Amino acid sequence: MKGRILATLRAAETVVSGETLSQTLGVSRVTVWKHIRKLQEAGYPISAGPTGYRLEGDPDALYPWEFPGREKTLHYHPRVDSTMTVARTLARASCPHMTVVVAGCQQRGRGRLQRVWRSAEGGLYFTLVLRLDLPPVLAQRANFAASLVLARTLQELYGVPAQVKWPNDILVAERKLCGMLSEMEVEGDLAAFINIGIGVNVNHDPSGEEPMATSLAALLGRPVSRRELLACFLDRLEQRLQQPELADVIAEWKTQSATLGRRVRIVTTRETAEGLARDVDENGALILEDSAGVLRKIIYGDCFHHRSRGTA
Ligand code: BTN
Repeated sequence: MKGRILATLRAAETVVSGETLSQTLGVSRVTVWKHIRKLQEAGYPISAGPTGYRLEGDPDALYPWEFPGREKTLHYHPRVDSTMTVARTLARASCPHMTVVVAGCQQRGRGRLQRVWRSAEGGLYFTLVLRLDLPPVLAQRANFAASLVLARTLQELYGVPAQVKWPNDILVAERKLCGMLSEMEVEGDLAAFINIGIGVNVNHDPSGEEPMATSLAALLGRPVSRRELLACFLDRLEQRLQQPELADVIAEWKTQSATLGRRVRIVTTRETAEGLARDVDENGALILEDSAGVLRKIIYGDCFHHRSRGTA
């Protein structure tokens, strides 16, 4: 109902009487009024006067009713420890494929390799629960699908030259715009769920604390609707995930890569390796060529690009 009230007020762009709303939506005027009050409490600037209601501005809200068709599977928390924790609890309690946990900000946002992910107001922070019936060895493909689809969505919606960095960051002009973290639990031969957590720097400026980071607002010089970005991304990813076994996803990911052909340093919790990023194999491992010309397969790690392209 809240989504339909908002849609009516947005389309009207003027005052809409309680009577019109009640007739259009097929509910009593009291019911309309109750929903309007809830929307006002949720932060929507709806004025109520003798002639009716008017939406005076459109906040970039991420409530479930802003995502038609996803009202039952999208969970919004204005503030949360980490969307990863909430999503894991939901996944263990058998929530459906494509459940989404979104937060306005996170108090204990988690990054890869035990790092903290600063999650101030204005960014987009969410975790997706995927149930893809993939064997664990193919589960990485889901992460590659997510970063590829997000990079393409950013290119198409905002015209930014987004590129993917191995394993799953998104960069614009070598500055980090998005990070991804994933978790999986296995049951028998298959991944019971793959949870993908995504943080996008949207309307806040992370560059003070992370000099090599950027945000959409900084790139475009204007604020960006997180709602539009999330809705487009979810629709596109859902479609992409319907492909059996995600067979082509890594080949396509490579066409958008900022890493391949670069000299890189890979840091894991145990070691550091340097060389030329030659390829990514069908399961998402990076093929690194060291200075002796020896090829190594790197399964995980933090990847740093050297400035120069070229030889190992
Ligand atoms: C990284 O680049 O280190 C990965 C960052 C992942 C951040 C996202 S924000 C939503 C989700 N919740 C978390 O606590 N982390 C991920």
